[in-house]
Amino acid sequence: MSFRTIDPREIKTQEMHAYMLGAIAPRPIAFVSSIDKDGLVNLSPFSFFNAFGSNPPMVIFSPALRGRDGHTKHTLENVRQVDEVVINIVSYDMVQQMSLASTEYPKGTNEFIKSGFSMQDSVMVKPPRVRESPAQLECKVRQIIQTGVRGGAANLVLCEIVLLHLREDVLGEQGSIDPFKIDQVARLGGNWYSRASRGLFEVPKPLTTLGMGVDRLPEEIRLSKVLTGNDLGLLGNTENLPTQEEISSFTGREDVKKLFDTLGGDSENLTMAVHLAAHHLLEKGQVNEAWNLLLARHQKQ
Ligand SMILES: Cc1cc2nc3c(=O)[nH]c(=O)nc-3n(C[C@H](O)[C@H](O)[C@H](O)COP(=O)(O)O)c2cc1C
Repeated sequence: MSFRTIDPREIKTQEMHAYMLGAIAPRPIAFVSSIDKDGLVNLSPFSFFNAFGSNPPMVIFSPALRGRDGHTKHTLENVRQVDEVVINIVSYDMVQQMSLASTEYPKGTNEFIKSGFSMQDSVMVKPPRVRESPAQLECKVRQIIQTGVRGGAANLVLCEIVLLHLREDVLGEQGSIDPFKIDQVARLGGNWYSRASRGLFEVPKPLTTLGMGVDRLPEEIRLSKVLTGNDLGLLGNTENLPTQEEISSFTGREDVKKLFDTLGGDSENLTMAVHLAAHHLLEKGQVNEAWNLLLARHQKQ
């Protein structure tokens, strides 16, 4: 058996980071809500996260200094100002919106609004909880340990859970958490995630785009009875909508004309049918096609 042996001092930080993400996986995701001293809310995911003891119940997550330039993440700035967070567990039906929330929006942007999650008041701490999350951990930050000053250095945020909220529908008959019902996702290397109950899948990182956000989607899409949170997350992660030219050439296609003819029906039914067709496209990762279809419907109204 042959091995590649790596000395961290001989490779770039980014390479070491990538090897670590690939090797130490799958990692649970802490979806952390925090506030700054003026009460501005922030929501971001961190997969350098785990549980370390239950008496007192302690978890640690790490907003690292950004690899590229050593920039401090807003979550770290916030916990230095207000020593409270809520760690929200991410289920599969939240994954696209959670990924959108990891976008590097400017300071002061509330990612609850950008990613379309609902803020629910906490009981023991000031930052709000993510209502859609099946398990919400209200925490007091007990200590922050900085391991270095250069890009990639960890900042271990040691948190004590002071209140735990579990959604009733993820509990089994004995009152314990049913792993199939809670349906968490975890993070691996690259774009890979794992759905605990099913296996691996990919979500491209929203690092190169500044998605418009769920808050800026047209109302009929945002309030759709058919489109799921994951669908809205994918649509909200789009930076530029198809141009008028692209939409016209899309609606001119024979298969699309046929689709609109067959979907037919009254206005509400047609909207539902178009949303269902868009949902199927989004499930296959065809985001641009889905946008074309939704906007074509919008323009026909
Ligand atoms: C699933 C997932 C896990 C992540 N885990 C970490 C992590 O453990 N540490 C980290 O520094 N950044 C992590 N990131 C990137 C941050 O979420 C991203 O830098 C975010 O913009 C930070 O937001 P903030 O500046 O508002 O705190 C992760 C991103 C995703 C999508």
